[in-house]
Amino acid sequence: MCGIIGYCGQKPAVPIVLEALKRLEYRGYDSAGIASLYDGRLLIRKDAGKIDEVIQKHDLASLPGIVAIGHTRWATHGAVTQFNAHPHSDCGGRVAVVHNGIIENNQQLRQELTKIGHKFTSETDTEIIPHLLEDELKNGCSLEQAVLNIAPRLEGSYAFLGISLDDPGKIIGTRKTIPLIVGTDAPDYYVSSDALAFSQYTNRVMSLEDNEVVVLTQKGIEFFDAQGNKLVKRARKLDHSWAESHKGGYQHFMLKEIMEQAQALSQIVHQDEKRFTNIALDILRARQVIITACGTSRYAALVGRYLFSRVGKKFCDVVMASEFGYFADSVDKSTVVIAVSQSGETADVVEGVKAARDAGAQVISIVNRPNSILADLSHQVIYLNCGSEIAVAATKSFLSQLAIFYLLSFAMVNSFDEAAARLTDLSGDITKVLNWNKSELIKLSQKLKDKSAFYYIARGINFAIASEGALKLKEISYIHAEGMPAGELKHGTLALIELGTPVVVICPADYTFLETLSNAMETKSRGAYIIGVSDKESDIYDSWIRIPEVDELLYPMVAVVPLQLLAYYLAINRGCDPDKPRNLAKSVTVK
Ligand code: G6P
Repeated sequence: MCGIIGYCGQKPAVPIVLEALKRLEYRGYDSAGIASLYDGRLLIRKDAGKIDEVIQKHDLASLPGIVAIGHTRWATHGAVTQFNAHPHSDCGGRVAVVHNGIIENNQQLRQELTKIGHKFTSETDTEIIPHLLEDELKNGCSLEQAVLNIAPRLEGSYAFLGISLDDPGKIIGTRKTIPLIVGTDAPDYYVSSDALAFSQYTNRVMSLEDNEVVVLTQKGIEFFDAQGNKLVKRARKLDHSWAESHKGGYQHFMLKEIMEQAQALSQIVHQDEKRFTNIALDILRARQVIITACGTSRYAALVGRYLFSRVGKKFCDVVMASEFGYFADSVDKSTVVIAVSQSGETADVVEGVKAARDAGAQVISIVNRPNSILADLSHQVIYLNCGSEIAVAATKSFLSQLAIFYLLSFAMVNSFDEAAARLTDLSGDITKVLNWNKSELIKLSQKLKDKSAFYYIARGINFAIASEGALKLKEISYIHAEGMPAGELKHGTLALIELGTPVVVICPADYTFLETLSNAMETKSRGAYIIGVSDKESDIYDSWIRIPEVDELLYPMVAVVPLQLLAYYLAINRGCDPDKPRNLAKSVTVK
């Protein structure tokens, strides 16, 4: 949800900032802009549109400067317009700010600032920041002191960067709840929402904690706490796998990430077995276990719930992170809260975890991004280790989350090794399912691309896969899709089935096969076009997506892969960009 970048060093700053914005585009892509300091001037160019469009339209690459900041936007306050694009400036055009997050008391601050004569040009919450800085700078403060002075007035969550003609040659940054990472390769310094923005230049990084301030100049980097005391921070090394962000010859990141799943599975088993088993035992011993997550991660949690119940005989609940707060009264010291998040920065999940911690719960998080906010807030962290995921629609992180739940459930019964061995074997099955179905899925997507709605049904452990398959389709092809337990069809959705309505039936030859098939038959009798996802053929299917025969608890992992590919090809056939679906962003850092 918005990406910010700043560079200060010996090289021309603008090309570095533009390249970083392209790498940050997964965080938002409705507008973009940059500001640079050059020859006693503050240069700002920005507009609505994807980054490449804005770069071309405003010839951003021609902007000079050795200090620059940039922004890629996912709109929260204010429509997608040039005025609302970042960077934002003060009355005199002497300060420029880029911001990720929401300033909750912006209306009140805007009124106060307007009363004393400030003029606003956008509808954004962000614009109050440069105006607040303007007043501090007029009083003779340094930029960092100005930031320290205004920060206590800002409510909400934010990470922002600023530059100013009144204190030139430097970039300041601060954060609260939203991540901000500094990269160092003296005499070149970077600061961004994600280290991916600069990982091609340096793998030495430092994170800012809440309310800390960083100052970047050509001479080096300085950190301050909220009281202005200098801090000493050590750089750590960025994991190399995290730094990869190229498409590797694929047309889209999403396709690359779908194809990487077999490899992700073979990597995930490399966990510290003892620590892992201890975490599993903590879950088993807890009086109650609540899993909280959003989007795709929540569907992984739903599969996890079945695994915990079937293998570990441990019942747990899954609560949507945005609703978690409403159940906070039931959380106590004997509760284990498991937070699942690819990014580790989804605002609702972070908020829920804070509430759980306050109530005394033990927090275990399952995350992909190293050193994320969620990881920092948790008592125990399990990493997916599947490398950076760039496409907005999650694929390989989902499969990895399923694998983690599989390992955890077997670790509850002291069988981690057995589970790890099965997952290692399964990576061959993932490759098979891709090879077997690619051409059939391409044909199917051409045939069904103009359908207005798809329904996905399954039972038991595969029900969440029906929901995930539907979510993938909605996200990237903009076709209405619903996933549901097959048994629920007749309580409403059956009324929507007409001649030719596609119904995707996930019915592996397990304990759910016959009942699911009979629900599929109910839709076929009303004209549905049945796409069967199974290892067992049936006359009911109009189209058969073949999956390999595996252990029944592993079917979700082989069944989801062709559904991801189906959504991908449908998006392509409908002319949609699967990596950057409209209105969505990969990291949702606002509530
Ligand atoms: C957004 C993304 C989804 C993701 C969800 C949760 O909606 O577009 O792909 O599943 O956030 O993200 P998280 O990083 O917490 O797993």
